[in-house]
Amino acid sequence: MGKAIVIYTSKRGSTKQYAEWIAEDLGCEALPLADPRVKDLNLYEYSCIIYGGWIRGSGIVDFDKFGRMLDSELMQKLIVFGVGMADETAENYAQVWGYSIGKLDPKNENKSILYILGGKYDPASVTGMDRFLMKIMRTVLISGSTPEAKGRANFMKERIDNGVDMVRRDNITSLVRDARRKM
Ligand SMILES: Cc1cc2nc3c(=O)[nH]c(=O)nc-3n(C[C@H](O)[C@H](O)[C@H](O)COP(=O)(O)O)c2cc1C
Repeated sequence: MGKAIVIYTSKRGSTKQYAEWIAEDLGCEALPLADPRVKDLNLYEYSCIIYGGWIRGSGIVDFDKFGRMLDSELMQKLIVFGVGMADETAENYAQVWGYSIGKLDPKNENKSILYILGGKYDPASVTGMDRFLMKIMRTVLISGSTPEAKGRANFMKERIDNGVDMVRRDNITSLVRDARRKM
């Protein structure tokens, strides 16, 4: 069996929690992207490379930075997970995919895998730029015009205003299964 590695970017802990659970299940290391050891990793030694980042404005934070370490060979071993509070709709998945893997491999030739895992949002802990961005997102959301969009927007607005915690260990089951297939 080959080796796996988990690299992650987390601001308030939920992505870190998932990264640690995944690493524990796979018996491998989980390192923050900012850890100086990441630059020295020889990614070609691994048969499964996992990157996790929290989702901000539908983008997986620092995936572009991590993406600079990848080529087509490494992307074939890649599993990405984004952690967010949006609903698991096809539209959300497509958007997050388009801003991450889709930017590097628009035809998905390397068959990198993307998972979106339920995150945690506590409005009281969000400050500065993030708070400002969230305020704009909330305004844009509630301006949605169709009745269907309005229904979904109300759901999100409730989460933005009151917070939500969807972090569950069970959420990693399929990701871990896919990782083991690559190892
Ligand atoms: C400024 C800001 C923007 C966000 N944008 C999104 C988003 O577009 N989609 C989403 O699903 N979650 C979004 N979230 C929710 C976070 O991704 C979620 O709370 C995540 O669990 C945070 O991960 P962390 O605990 O590892 O920092 C946003 C949160 C903040 C603070």
